[in-house]
Amino acid sequence: MRKYLSLFLAAVVSTQLFADEGMWLPSRIYERIADMQDKGFRLTAEDLYSVNQASLKDGIVHFGGGCTGELISPDGLLITNHHCGYGQIQAHSSVEHDYLTNGFWAMTRDQELPNPGLTVSFLVRMDDVTSQVLKGCKQGMSESDRSEIIKKNTDAIVEKAETEGIGYKAKVSPLYYGNQYFLFLYQVFSDVRLVGAPPSSIGKFGGDTDNWMWPRHTGDFSLFRIYADKDNNPAPYSEDNVPYKPKKFFSISVKGIEEGDFTLVYGFPGRTQEYILSDAVDYIANVSNPHKIALRTMRLDNQKAEMEKSPEVRIKYASKNASVANSWKKWQGEMKGILKMNTVAEKQKYEKAFTEWAKGNAEYETVIPEMKKIYGVLAEYNFAEDYHKEAVMAVEAASFAGRYVKSDAGARESLAKSFFKNYHMPIDKNIFVDMMTAYSNNVPEKFRPEYFNVQMEKYGTPEKWADAIFSSTVYTDKDRLSAATEEQLAEDPFVEYYNSFNDFYNREIKPVIAENSARLSLLYRTYMKGQMEFDREKAFYPDANSTLRIAYGHVKGYKPADAVYYKPSSTLEGIMQKDNPDIYDYNIPQVLRDVYAKKDYGRWEVNGTVPVCFIATNHTSGGNSGSPVIDAEGNLIGVNFDRVWEGTMSDIVFDPDVCRNIALDIRYALFVIDKVAGASHLIDEMVIVE
Ligand code: ARG
Ligand code: ASP
Repeated sequence: MRKYLSLFLAAVVSTQLFADEGMWLPSRIYERIADMQDKGFRLTAEDLYSVNQASLKDGIVHFGGGCTGELISPDGLLITNHHCGYGQIQAHSSVEHDYLTNGFWAMTRDQELPNPGLTVSFLVRMDDVTSQVLKGCKQGMSESDRSEIIKKNTDAIVEKAETEGIGYKAKVSPLYYGNQYFLFLYQVFSDVRLVGAPPSSIGKFGGDTDNWMWPRHTGDFSLFRIYADKDNNPAPYSEDNVPYKPKKFFSISVKGIEEGDFTLVYGFPGRTQEYILSDAVDYIANVSNPHKIALRTMRLDNQKAEMEKSPEVRIKYASKNASVANSWKKWQGEMKGILKMNTVAEKQKYEKAFTEWAKGNAEYETVIPEMKKIYGVLAEYNFAEDYHKEAVMAVEAASFAGRYVKSDAGARESLAKSFFKNYHMPIDKNIFVDMMTAYSNNVPEKFRPEYFNVQMEKYGTPEKWADAIFSSTVYTDKDRLSAATEEQLAEDPFVEYYNSFNDFYNREIKPVIAENSARLSLLYRTYMKGQMEFDREKAFYPDANSTLRIAYGHVKGYKPADAVYYKPSSTLEGIMQKDNPDIYDYNIPQVLRDVYAKKDYGRWEVNGTVPVCFIATNHTSGGNSGSPVIDAEGNLIGVNFDRVWEGTMSDIVFDPDVCRNIALDIRYALFVIDKVAGASHLIDEMVIVE
């Protein structure tokens, strides 16, 4: 048995200890630094992360909560992705000033545009606070008592940390499913102004057609500037604010990139689930993703049909459409990747070996069977929840009505303003029909509220129901909404829809999910600890949770299919090959054609062309968009923005053969700023290493 086990272990371990997999904690990077240096890195752990001196972490921000950005000048200039600044660029756009289409460049500092609501956060430091958080917790105490103690301890840590500096915001997050706790202390700046964005035909070149794919030719960047008060501290927007002087900003290398070169991505990956049970993976790949994809396909088709008819509708739905499309496409790649990797079966094998190992160990023996039992209960509830979120709540008027009616007068005004700015009723009505049709076809009786059955009974078809609800509601029209009495607002059929579905969800679905998820997370804490003991050879990195991480690897192509090899970098030639004035996603601006015709590349020319994007083996996730990609010396060589289609399952399982992050080559950004925008004053602010 022992022999079998160790053989088995060797097999499991060797498929798991993938080079380049991992999102490491900056404060623990000293544990990896030898390996990194072996692979070509020339800096020290202290250069990456230090609490005593300025380090690279001080040049990185969590941008708007969902992306990453990095400082590239001593005057607070910041680069992130075009798709990360998209909401801001859109908010400043109108049919007259269409910055989405034409781009935006502040030629002087006073033209830089403020963005209420946008914040950026620097990590001041991170501390292992496990023992403080767990102080007073005892073996065998009830989970609710334990949670209460943890909450109290956490609140105290947070409160104390936030008094340490101006604009400080603290958060304690569990790592390894609550086996460890870390304090993350941030300094938050809220005066962040838009400095520049290329036209979407560059910044979103390839659109949703090329999204999540390689070869890629997207100039996915935008520029912002952080402003501070006279003492360099965070302050709300004011005309008196001045450009922030960062502790650290990135020098930019234009020396070039070759296959095999060391690369490091430093940013804020959002969420990974590398240690989940086979049952969870099975549900994602075989049930959840296929259904959510089908629902979103219908939404996208409806949006697209109307967007093609009118430029106004196209602007209104640009941002919504991109975000619906983004997950839609990722889920498809993820599903395929999981099936190809045979992850469910691989995990089952691993679980079997774990179970063998855990025999007779009171702590671990029953953990997997208990988890499996819970997943068995959860599956149909998760399915109902998927439909609640992806179908029922996809009706825009309904979720607007539900939120509006509950808000006070002040909040109502701004809600209505932002809703109608980007609303087109015919899209919503068609979506309603499709969503209710899918709901009635797929959601089992027991998960449907009585309200749904009554409406279907009354109207006969989703089409007739849609006619009735959209002609009588006040929530799809600005004027009708403002003329409505309080009673009309409250009794509107969309409020009824929203409340009926939500009441049912909150009563019948959510509590079951919450209760079982709580039990699951408790078991995951044990299972995670068990995995770490079971597989002592493996270096476990904590799942991503929107905290700062370091991933390292190297520039590398891959084989997406038999007889095909993808090289790791793309050039302007590829843009010209894709250029097509008749296809929206590939219609580049005329100035780019002119620059190309004249080969007017200036200092950005490399071998007669201009580099555009490159791929590498860094393990990244959603939230890593905008992250600095740096070379062995710590210079900025790219801005991360995506992953390749064949590798999108890396949030669940990492395949070193095909998992690649996609970065914008910084030289393409500089070329666009210089030759397309004529904004070379911005380049003058930067430090460029030739
Ligand atoms: N796939 C990238 C990410 O997840 C970029 C998304 C933006 N682009 C788009 N065409 N929707 O954020
Ligand atoms: N495009 C993603 C982002 O916005 C990055 C990724 O998922 O690879 O963060």
